[in-house]
Amino acid sequence: MHKPGKIRAPKGKLGVLLPGMGAVSTTFMAGVELVRSGKATPVGSLTQMGTIRLGKRTDNQSPLIRDFVALAKLDDLVFGGWDPFPENAYAAAAKAGVLEPHHLKAVKPFLSKIRPMTAAFDREYVKLLDGKHVKKGKTKYDLALQIKADIANFRKKHNLARLIVLWCGSTEIYLTPEKVHSTPERFVEAMKSNHPGIAPSMLYAWAAVTSGVPFGNGAPNLTVDIPAIQQLALENGVPIAGKDFKTGQTLMKTILAPGLKARMLGLNGWFSTNILGNRDGEVLEDPGSFKTKEESKLGALEYILQPHLYPKLYGTIHHKVRINYYPPRGDNKEGWDNIDIFGWLGYPMQIKVDFLCRDSILAAPIVLDLVLFLDLAHRAGMRGIQEWLSFYFKSPMCAPELYPEHDLFIQLMKLKNTLRWMMGKDLITHLGQEYYD
Ligand SMILES: NC(=O)c1ccc[n+]([C@@H]2O[C@H](COP(=O)([O-])OP(=O)(O)OC[C@H]3O[C@@H](n4cnc5c(N)ncnc54)[C@H](O)[C@@H]3O)[C@@H](O)[C@H]2O)c1
Repeated sequence: MHKPGKIRAPKGKLGVLLPGMGAVSTTFMAGVELVRSGKATPVGSLTQMGTIRLGKRTDNQSPLIRDFVALAKLDDLVFGGWDPFPENAYAAAAKAGVLEPHHLKAVKPFLSKIRPMTAAFDREYVKLLDGKHVKKGKTKYDLALQIKADIANFRKKHNLARLIVLWCGSTEIYLTPEKVHSTPERFVEAMKSNHPGIAPSMLYAWAAVTSGVPFGNGAPNLTVDIPAIQQLALENGVPIAGKDFKTGQTLMKTILAPGLKARMLGLNGWFSTNILGNRDGEVLEDPGSFKTKEESKLGALEYILQPHLYPKLYGTIHHKVRINYYPPRGDNKEGWDNIDIFGWLGYPMQIKVDFLCRDSILAAPIVLDLVLFLDLAHRAGMRGIQEWLSFYFKSPMCAPELYPEHDLFIQLMKLKNTLRWMMGKDLITHLGQEYYD
């Protein structure tokens, strides 16, 4: 295992560029502004509120994570983005309907100044949107070069020391890796010939990575889950992470399933259904976009329960996920789970979960943490897939020879141990025999 590098200090401003300025992006930006002006608490953010234990339990040493590792300060974040609709971030936030009027009013001057740049957008990949605020170019390669120019201009205009690009755009149609994604050269050729395997989100990823800018993927799109971009990330020394923010129902799944498995309780089925009425829900009405989301949501249980190791407990699980667009609910989603479990001697039991959550309120702190941790990783010289950030994703990226880790508690331990490793501190194994010697 290689040694952690020296971490560069977070000097200067950090640009945060978000492709997609909808509900999640605007709730995130508004929240950061409210927190840094002392009007709100960053609930849900591990980087802002979490602590990390160092040494033995008897050492009583649990600093805040942000005091332990040098993270960019919220005051140093500068926001921008792209969207196929021209509304500024205030208008987009008002339309998204996540924030209460008193919060919206408090951030109106700040959000109104954030105007999206024209998007690299193609209706083929998000069928139910029809934005006109889009880039023009003969080929996908031309569009990607325009995104690179946008990144360079944004850096110059705001005198930024560093940048992060994090996809908060709509869920694109389902794509699978193919030959055009296999190497950087083939990828460029495919952009130049307008190959259908190259989705708009990939153009942002290519532009960011080849500009030396870390890239994260908050949606279930293929985007950076392809060898071409992963190789470019290694060559350009930039971290990448994805995919699909772990909020609402999957968050619950990855909290509950590890517990059932820990106690060797069996599972016959897990039926999950959702009603939501935001633009994300509208986009997911399209079967192509829904398929992308469904694949991302279905993976978690299989990996956590490991039916090949426990065929008698998890060998025949019926796992169903449904998403229904229901406008009256707006961003305030309702997710129901019916879980059919069995115990001692095979006796059946049921668990019902009804989570009345707020999608963007759960996603915003994830965006903040990913921005700060991707920047930290970059300053520490870490490049390519950042598996330690699996904690934040429904469908975590990992090396091709591994299976992804979905258990929230293992993910958290991995994240904190990575921070300890980066800072040259002892890892915590939870063995604890030394207390009884
Ligand atoms: N909120 C959550 O809990 C959550 C959880 C996991 C994943 N996500 C994903 O995060 C993404 C954002 O969610 P949201 O609720 O903000 O959705 P949203 O519909 O409010 O915002 C998405 C924005 O992306 C824009 N967009 C679409 N294609 C684009 C392109 N090519 N370039 C630039 N912008 C583009 C749309 O115009 C829209 O404004 C979605 O893909 C969603 O599936 C959200």
